[in-house]
This record gives sequence, C-alpha cells and structure tokens, in this order.
Amino acid sequence: MVRRRQIYEGKAKILYEGPEPGTLIQYFKDDATAFNAQKRGTISGKGVLNNRISEHIFTALQTIGVPTHFIRRLNMREQLIRQVEIVPIEVVVRNVAAGSLSKRLGIEEGTQLPRTIIEYYYKDDALGDPLIADEHIACFGWASQDEMNDIADMAIRVNDFMCGLFAAIGIRLVDFKLEFGRVWDGDYARVILADEISPDGCRLWDMKTSEKLDKDRFRLDLGGEAEAYQEIARRLGLLPEEGEENAVLDLDSHRKKRGR
Ligand code: TMP
Ligand code: ASP
Repeated sequence: MVRRRQIYEGKAKILYEGPEPGTLIQYFKDDATAFNAQKRGTISGKGVLNNRISEHIFTALQTIGVPTHFIRRLNMREQLIRQVEIVPIEVVVRNVAAGSLSKRLGIEEGTQLPRTIIEYYYKDDALGDPLIADEHIACFGWASQDEMNDIADMAIRVNDFMCGLFAAIGIRLVDFKLEFGRVWDGDYARVILADEISPDGCRLWDMKTSEKLDKDRFRLDLGGEAEAYQEIARRLGLLPEEGEENAVLDLDSHRKKRGR
C-alpha cells in the first residue's frame, strides 16, 4: 500500500495529502464521540455510510450553486476534497427545538421554531466549543463581516434545500451543523462549504413516528445507531432495496447495476 502523509486526524475523519497541490483525501472512520469526546465508541459501517451520504448532499448542493470542497468520492471510505483553511466556527441551523437549545433555554424538545435560528460556536475542543455572539467573530478575527454574510446566506440556502430533500423521504430536519473553509484565487479569498453533512451532525426525525435517525441514538444510548444511519442512506436511495440485501454496503457494485 502506498504510504500517504497524514495531515490531520479528527474525531470522525482523517485528512491525508491529496494527489495534487490544493487537494486532500478525507477518510471517514467508524469512530463516534459525543459531549466533547467524553463519550467514545464506534458505529459499525458509519464511515462508509457518511462518505456516501455526504457525497450525495454536497453534490446536490453544488447543482444549486452552493460552492463546496467536495471533488469526488474515491472509494468506500474516502473522498477527494479541496484543501481549505477551516473557519474556526461551527454554524448550527435550527428549525425545531432540541439538544442544547432545549436544555439551555428550557424549550420543550420538538417545538417548531417560529423562524429558523443560526447559532455560532467557537471551534475549540479545549474550551468545549462555546456558543458565541456574532460580535465575537470579527472582534477576535475568526472571520470577516463579509465572510460571515456569505456564510449565513449559504447556511440558509443549505437549510432550505435540505428541509425539502429530507421532507421528501419522510424526515424532519430538526437541526444540523456546518463548517466552512477559505480558498484563495490569487489574493482573493472566498468561503466554501467544507467538512461533511451526515447523521453525525444533523438531527433527523421520522416525520410519522418522531424516531431519531441520527447520532442522538449514540449520544443518548438509544441503540440501533448503525441501523438508523442505514435507514437514512436507504431512504436517500443510496442502498439496495429489499431483495438485494447481499449487496448491502457494496455500494460500487450497486451503482453499476443501476447504471449510475
Ligand atoms: P446541539 O443541540 O448539541 O447544540 O447540536 C446542534 C446540532 O449540531 C446537532 O444536529 C448536532 C450538531 N453538532 C455537531 O455536529 N457537533 C458538535 O460538536 C455539536 C455540539 C453538535
Ligand atoms: N462530535 C462532538 C464531540 O465528540 C460532539 C457531538 O457531536 O455531540 O465532541
């Protein structure tokens, strides 16, 4: 096997040097963490599913004009991406009260919010990714006001698109987290969508039963986390349907069969 230079190892992914300057390979692990890595475990097959789900969503977002770091999927666990300078802010979009919002403000989980909320968290594990005010961002030089305007616009577009995408498969998009990164065209920098979009960083509830089909199954010890991720992939049309079980997770042969 060819040895590649590892650039960074995060909680759920590893970044390796890419084949060309300005590219990286993003490898999806099965490792899962919660509560700032105080809880650790693995979700069998998660990396394969998240690679595929994130590819599907990023590709769709690119078709509506949202710029992303995604170039192409390379294999079951890896995708080729553009190298970016990550903006150290986690952008959380909320449509329904849940998680830390419910806890912090005492709003009952499941309450539909009268308008979509965007929150910003400073990406710093040592500080536990604290919630920050908009004003902190320019003040401490984490991003410029122009960059934040672009980020907020993109976050709303991503939310509108994803609400429809998931509603069409009977899923309520409760909330999700995005990360953005800078790329340079000469002296000019712009921000594009980076990281991943998968059940690791989204709350996805079945519309009929309100069953949680995301990482909350792991966070809250509900069990069935691998099955939940598979259900999301299946509903998105990324897994074989009944009767094709032998091909489960053999996504490449599945794609060939469907002629995609
Ligand atoms: P929260 O309710 O815990 O603040 O989470 C809001 C959303 O952001 C939820 O969909 C999970 C996601 N998220 C991450 O992806 N990474 C994180 O570190 C945290 C805290 C939340
Ligand atoms: N991934 C985060 C961590 O372990 C938290 C979470 O997603 O709940 O720190």
